[in-house]
Amino acid sequence: MQELPRLPFPGLHPLELADGYLEGPAVRMVTTQAGAPAWLVTGYAEVRDLLSDRRLGRSHPCPERAARLSGSIRLGGPAGGYTSERADHAAMRRLLNPAFSARRMARLRGFVRDTVEEVLDGVAAHSPPADLRVCFSRPLAARVICELLGVPYSDRDDFAAWADEASLLSEPERSWAAWGRLVEYMEELLRRKRRGPARDLLSDLVVAESPFSVAELARLGAAVLFGGYATTALRIDFVMAFLLTCPDQRALVQESPALVEAAVEEGLRLASANTHGIPRYAHTDLKIGGVVIREGDGILLNTPAANRDPTVFPDPGSFVVTRSSPAAHLAFGRGPRYCVGAGLARVELAEAVSAIFRRFPTIRLAIPVAELRQVRGTTTEDFEQLPVLWDEHRCLS
Ligand code: HEM
Repeated sequence: MQELPRLPFPGLHPLELADGYLEGPAVRMVTTQAGAPAWLVTGYAEVRDLLSDRRLGRSHPCPERAARLSGSIRLGGPAGGYTSERADHAAMRRLLNPAFSARRMARLRGFVRDTVEEVLDGVAAHSPPADLRVCFSRPLAARVICELLGVPYSDRDDFAAWADEASLLSEPERSWAAWGRLVEYMEELLRRKRRGPARDLLSDLVVAESPFSVAELARLGAAVLFGGYATTALRIDFVMAFLLTCPDQRALVQESPALVEAAVEEGLRLASANTHGIPRYAHTDLKIGGVVIREGDGILLNTPAANRDPTVFPDPGSFVVTRSSPAAHLAFGRGPRYCVGAGLARVELAEAVSAIFRRFPTIRLAIPVAELRQVRGTTTEDFEQLPVLWDEHRCLS
C-alpha cells in the first residue's frame, strides 16, 4: 500500500502543550502557559460536545479568581458578564449575522476574486523569490476585512500592528495598549459612519437598533478585525505550505482544481495555531470523559488536538486532500459561537489557492522545509516567513 505523506514541518511546534498531548486522556488537568490549573480537552468527541454545551461559557462567576488560561489579554481570562453572557452573545450574533448573509457573501466573493488577481499582479511584477506572507496573504486578508468592515485600506499598517501586538502572550501592558488603540480607532470610524453610513459592517452596527453603546460596538468591530485578519492570512499560508511540501497532494489539486476546497479544509484541520485551545469556564459542575469539572474551573478546548484524533481522521498527521469528510474538523469551533466569518474565510482560502496555482504553476518553497518557523509567543503564531520561487516564463502575469 502506498504510504501517505507525513506532515513535513520538523521545525514547527505542533502545540505549546506538545509533550504527549495526543496520547494522554481526552480530558485532563494541566498547568496552563500562564501557570494556572485548567482542564485540557483533546478528544474530538469531547471538544465537539463541549463547544455546544451551554453549561460552559466565556464568563466566570468570580472573574478575579478565574484561572488564567494563557497570557493573551483577549483569550487568556474570562470575558463578559456571568449572568448576562447568553443574552449579550445572542444580541451580538443578531447584529453581526446580516453582514455575513448569503447575499453579502455572494457580493464579497466577486470582490475577493478580483482582489486575489490584483494582489497576484503585484507578486508577478516582481522577480522571485517573494515572501508569500508579506506580498500576498496578509495584503489579501487586509483588503477583504477592510471591504467587509468599511475600514480604509490606507490604515492597514496601523491596524495590522495593533492587532499583532494585541496578540502577544507575554507583554500584557503592550498588548492592552495596542488593543486600546484599535478600539479607539474603531470608535472614531463608527462616529464617522454614523454621520455618513455606507454599505459596510461598521455602518450596519452603528445604524442598527441594538442594546450596545458605541464603545461596545467599537470593541465588537475590533474583535471582528482581530478575529478575521491574521487568522485568515495564516491559514492561506498553511494551506500553501502543506501543498508545496506534499508533492503528490499538490499534483492531485493541480490536476483536479475541484479538490481545492478539500485541500483548504485539510489545511484548516492541520494548521497548528491557537495553541492553547478555545477558552471556557464551567458554569456548573459537570462530568465529561470520566472526570468531574467544578463550576468556575478553566477549560481549554484544544481544537488542534481534536482535529488530529485518529478515531475521526485516520492517519491524522498526514495532509490528505481526498478524505471522506474533509470539513469534519473543528477549526471554526462549533455551536453557538461557531465562527461567524467561516464562510468568508473559506471563500478567501479557495480563491487564493486556486489563483496561485493557476497563475504560478511552478511555485515552490525557496527555503528547505526544515527552515520554516512559526513565531512563538503570540496567539496567532504566524510563519516567520514563507518564501517562494517560480519560473517567470511560466507565470501568467
Ligand atoms: C481561517 C480563518 C478563521 C479561523 C480559523 C477562525 C476561527 C474561529 C473560531 C475557532 C471561533 C470560535 C471561538 C469560540 O468558540 O470561542 C471563531 C469565532 C469568531 N470568528 Fe473566526 N475564524 C476565522 C476567520 C474569521 C473571519 C474572516 C471573521 C470575520 C470577518 C471571523 C470572525 C469571528 C468572530 C466575530 C467570532 C466570534 C463568534 C462568537 O463568539 O459568536 N473569523 N473563529
